[in-house]
Amino acid sequence: MLRTTLLAGVRLVPAHRAACSVPLARPQYFSRVWMSTRKPVGRGTRFDLLVGPRLLLLRRTVLRRRMKARSQHRLSAPSPSSRVEGDWVLFHPVYSAEELKAVEVLHREATTIPDKLAYRLVRFARWGFDFVSRYKHRPIPPGSNMSVKELREGGYILDERGWLSRILFLETIAGVPGMVAGMLRHLQSIRLMRRDNGWIHTCLQEAENERMHLMTFMTLRDSPLWFRALILGAQGVFFNMFFFTYLISPRTCHRFVGYLEEEAVLTYTRCIEELERGWIPEWADKPAPEIAIDYWRLRKDATLLDVIYAVRSDETTHRFVNHSLANLVPDQDVNPFALQEPGMDVKGGKIAFDRKESEEYMRGVQKLVREGKAKIEE
Ligand SMILES: [Fe+2]
Ligand SMILES: [Fe+2]
Repeated sequence: MLRTTLLAGVRLVPAHRAACSVPLARPQYFSRVWMSTRKPVGRGTRFDLLVGPRLLLLRRTVLRRRMKARSQHRLSAPSPSSRVEGDWVLFHPVYSAEELKAVEVLHREATTIPDKLAYRLVRFARWGFDFVSRYKHRPIPPGSNMSVKELREGGYILDERGWLSRILFLETIAGVPGMVAGMLRHLQSIRLMRRDNGWIHTCLQEAENERMHLMTFMTLRDSPLWFRALILGAQGVFFNMFFFTYLISPRTCHRFVGYLEEEAVLTYTRCIEELERGWIPEWADKPAPEIAIDYWRLRKDATLLDVIYAVRSDETTHRFVNHSLANLVPDQDVNPFALQEPGMDVKGGKIAFDRKESEEYMRGVQKLVREGKAKIEE
């Protein structure tokens, strides 16, 4: 329909008859259609002046309608035929009530130069992120009895939109490293025709887990165009930086992700505290999104607070796994978490396994697997 209109426009106003020196931006498909039917036109013809602005307006209207339709589709419940049912995700932990509360905010001291570099980079990214999302986290004066409105206006706490922007941006970035690391290790395995020692799956599981965080929170709000553009730019820069750095030093990259996850645990811990203190009243007793109930096997009456607890536990797992992997030799050592991960009683209060602990843990898991096999064969 649109192309027919364009072609009709082309025939009605021959462009070669009059040239104009005013350059105009034209939609790409306009040039394509024109060039496929007539000889090429120069920039800024009468045709452009007459039809170009109308086409731009038409294109803008079509884009706006498409975006509106997409956002309505995202925010509405999926139809039964569009839902994926069954065991549709990679492995990820499902937490007990005790495990959800067994998370501590921890930090691993950076001692080597690459570790210090990774930590500084994370701190810099955090500063930039705080600046963009206008997050200050000013300490509340002792004995203060300020209302939620006063706390928000004073920059002491975020409102629910602020929290969502912050979480959505964080999750779009956090979903990149696992996929890049998994992809590079996969390619290396087939290129060198050798086994990967079980790292690929853990990396891909982390990437999917982060994407599920995003899928969960994006059901709460549709993101404006400028926010999507910001994500596009950030992903383009971060993907390439991480890709090339992983080729040079996988350990530094896993350390970087470990520090990034430390920040994620801190962010979700603060979010939980503010929610439990009643400082995010818009989310009080808000039901958990359907996708979250399905993914984390939550109760049907679970709330958003339950979801944030589960997400924080996931981030704790990423913190532990990445700091542990950064303590290994990537081309030699077996991933100790390839078959099983420690429970939250370990991951919640311990920042990482060192290389020796990883080996002991892996031997313990392998022993369990052998015993299980022997029992089945009996
Ligand atoms: Fe996440
Ligand atoms: Fe994470």
